Amino acid sequence: MKYNFDEYVERRGTYSMKWDAGEMIQRMGLTKTFDENTIPIFTADMDFPCPQPVIDALHKVVDQRIFGYTSQSALPDYNNAIIRWFRDRHQWEIDPEWISYVDGTVTGVNVAIRAFSEPGDGVLITRPIYGPFTSAIVGNGRRVVNSQLLEKDGYYTMDFADIEAKAKDPSVKIFILCSPHNPSGRVWTKEELQTLADICQRNDVVLVSDEVHCDLIRRGNKHYPVAAVADNQNIVMLTALNKTFNTAGLKCSNAIIANPDLRARYKKALGFKTASPFTIAALVAAYTQGDEWLEQIIDYIDGNIDWAIDFLHTHMPKVKCRRPEGTYVLWMDFRDYGLTPEEIHEKIYEKANVLLEGGKMFDPDQGAGYERVCLSSPRPLLEEAFTRIAREFEGL
Ligand SMILES: Cc1ncc(COP(=O)(O)O)c(C=O)c1O
Repeated sequence: MKYNFDEYVERRGTYSMKWDAGEMIQRMGLTKTFDENTIPIFTADMDFPCPQPVIDALHKVVDQRIFGYTSQSALPDYNNAIIRWFRDRHQWEIDPEWISYVDGTVTGVNVAIRAFSEPGDGVLITRPIYGPFTSAIVGNGRRVVNSQLLEKDGYYTMDFADIEAKAKDPSVKIFILCSPHNPSGRVWTKEELQTLADICQRNDVVLVSDEVHCDLIRRGNKHYPVAAVADNQNIVMLTALNKTFNTAGLKCSNAIIANPDLRARYKKALGFKTASPFTIAALVAAYTQGDEWLEQIIDYIDGNIDWAIDFLHTHMPKVKCRRPEGTYVLWMDFRDYGLTPEEIHEKIYEKANVLLEGGKMFDPDQGAGYERVCLSSPRPLLEEAFTRIAREFEGL
């Protein structure tokens, strides 16, 4: 079927974190203003309806009328759907034994930190990077060891010499990879992934790869699951339905670990986790019948990204940004306006009444002056948001 992603679906009144959680958003200091005119395009979910087969599968669960205990491993369909998806879409062969259900990818990262390190140990990340990695490290009493990404004309690369030097420290136990990378939208090449995996292998560092954005790849680019291309036995893969099919509220992630010893340690830290009947139904439907929708959403997001970059070039030429290779996020550099981060914030969040995510959430030291936007909404909504922002920067 042909989907209409321009359709505006009202999300207010649905407990939406973006659209309804104004009090929490204000408490977090994201904005002082949160009202019926706020356009929230900060948190990474989509304002698009899910694939029809997912909606039909969820209806079927409701119609059955019983919502008792379920277990994703009680029937083979759940694992088979995952295996089919990653084989067909990413040329990665998964054994059903390797799969553990996790109720969210950030939970999966926290579990990995507890499984493979002790309080006080170092965990390597490459900033700018998805903020909850830092919270997970600090929250578990571990140390953030940052290897700053190198940047040239908005193109980010890993500093392998620096990563290797830091990985050599025996107290550094884990590297958390974001692949594709949020917020830059880099889709790491096979060679980059192999180099990183080799460094981790040589230095006995567990490579935890968060690949939640792996299916939302710009046309012409290819995502490689690191476990499929690296000669490294110490990899934890975190995959999810959440971003791909806009089902984050169903908490559907899977840790995929080939190494039995690593897997046993991970499972011990994870404990007994079972997916809800809705989560199981959504995964089976999405990973078996979701391709058609995904192909259409990729085209629509590509269009949003091209539209936004063109808009910025025309109306806000001082904003620097590079076309992301994957994800639906755009990382924008406002520093050429010569304004303070507070002035930028005031214009966007208070005056334009648009909620983005400030660069310091991704990089407390060097993120000031950057803003990240999620281009995962109907284009008319994005047009309104960008027009309002541009008005505040006119003539500067
Ligand atoms: C890199 C990355 N990991 C994890 C998440 C959140 O995933 P989940 O909702 O499955 O915890 C996000 C959401 O923005 C993300 O960008």
